[in-house]
Amino acid sequence: MSNNAGLSEHDMQAYWMPFTANRQFKSNPRLVVGADRMHFTLSDGRQLLDGIAGLWCCNAGHNRPRIVEAIQKQAAELDYAPAFQMGHPKQFELASRLAKMMPGNLNKVFFTNSGSESCETALKMAIAYHRARGEGHRTRLIGREKGYHGVNFGGMSVGGMPANRKMFGNLVAGVDHLRHTHGIEENRFSKGQPQHGEELADDLIRMCELHDPSTIAAVIVEPLAGSAGVILPPKGYLQRLRKICDQHGILLIFDEVITGFGRLGTPFASNYFDVEADLVTTAKALTNGVIPMGAVFAQDKIYDAFMQGPDNMVEFFHGYTFSGNPMACATALATLDTYEEEGLLTRAAELADYWQDAAHSLADLPLVKDVRNLGLIAGIELEPIAGAPTKRAFSAFMQAYEAGLLIRTTGDTIALSPPLIIEKSHIDFAFGTLRKIIQALD
Ligand SMILES: Cc1ncc(COP(=O)(O)O)c(C=O)c1O
Repeated sequence: MSNNAGLSEHDMQAYWMPFTANRQFKSNPRLVVGADRMHFTLSDGRQLLDGIAGLWCCNAGHNRPRIVEAIQKQAAELDYAPAFQMGHPKQFELASRLAKMMPGNLNKVFFTNSGSESCETALKMAIAYHRARGEGHRTRLIGREKGYHGVNFGGMSVGGMPANRKMFGNLVAGVDHLRHTHGIEENRFSKGQPQHGEELADDLIRMCELHDPSTIAAVIVEPLAGSAGVILPPKGYLQRLRKICDQHGILLIFDEVITGFGRLGTPFASNYFDVEADLVTTAKALTNGVIPMGAVFAQDKIYDAFMQGPDNMVEFFHGYTFSGNPMACATALATLDTYEEEGLLTRAAELADYWQDAAHSLADLPLVKDVRNLGLIAGIELEPIAGAPTKRAFSAFMQAYEAGLLIRTTGDTIALSPPLIIEKSHIDFAFGTLRKIIQALD
């Protein structure tokens, strides 16, 4: 028996799918064969509205001409250049353009291939920075419960999603976690940033008291956490975290892998919240999700601390074969052109009110426990089925898929983060469809 993409059951066995229920998927596959602007085409010919920009990455939508053309051209011109001890012009051009977009002194850009690699890179930079300044005792890393910083050992260790950690032993040593900011009763159904919970940042003071600040290298948080179910920073929280870091010489790392490139209606969440971190991780929408690429932004002071000793010496023993590769750089440059030409880095701000009203129109449904939103992000938290967490949300995912809408679910929360080219008619369709589905859920 073959499915409608011409793959037999046998053909589907070799591929071990990431973050997927493999057996369930393979018994009833959902295969995508094309994409254009706001829609995917499925193997049975149906159209699926992309409610999650791929995986929070295709911010300009799909099949964008500039990007397609740039890839074709680059492949014929320079397919690869060695990443170490050699360079090519587009790396420098891209880093300069990115540095101009980022606020403050975050003027140095290190290229990686994913969000996970960006997080590993930032954590290593933080520890090595302190050592380069003669503070090699600062090795401790602080993350946050419910944080997601990718799946490699460092990111997993500072991350706070239990399912992502429990199978993998003792993880990286010397890590502690702040409490998360989710589930504060008074914050339910907040429109935009919630009012309550700023004081949770003071957990960092407790960590300083427990471990002594002189042992702490860095704190890493997502300004807005997506993967654990759209968790917003309470008003004042990020500012307070920044202040405590400054008081104790601790570096602040913002993981902007999902918030980078226009998601909140500003180029980065750093602009939106007006807080400048010492290191910022990005990936995903940097290339519109088309070619794997990530980037870490570092403050000048961090780069400068490494630039010492004989100038023939490698300053930072870290990097990837594909750091800043020509195909990724060309794709990223064409992506930035597209964002600029179409005003996409600020478009979420224009649509934010409409989006917010549409999201909160679901608040009256009995199964909706909370609605959270900011920029073009929404989280709709459902009451879980007693004894069967995640089941209700997955059922909503399947029904939305059948109805022509792609959503993402995490736990019992539905997350939406559409391409920034979305139109009001798409927003109406997405939330109208969800309303019907949630109303009819068991
Ligand atoms: C905040 C954050 N950091 C890191 C990552 C990991 O990125 P990647 O899957 O590209 O390794 C993600 C992915 O969703 C993310 O949301």
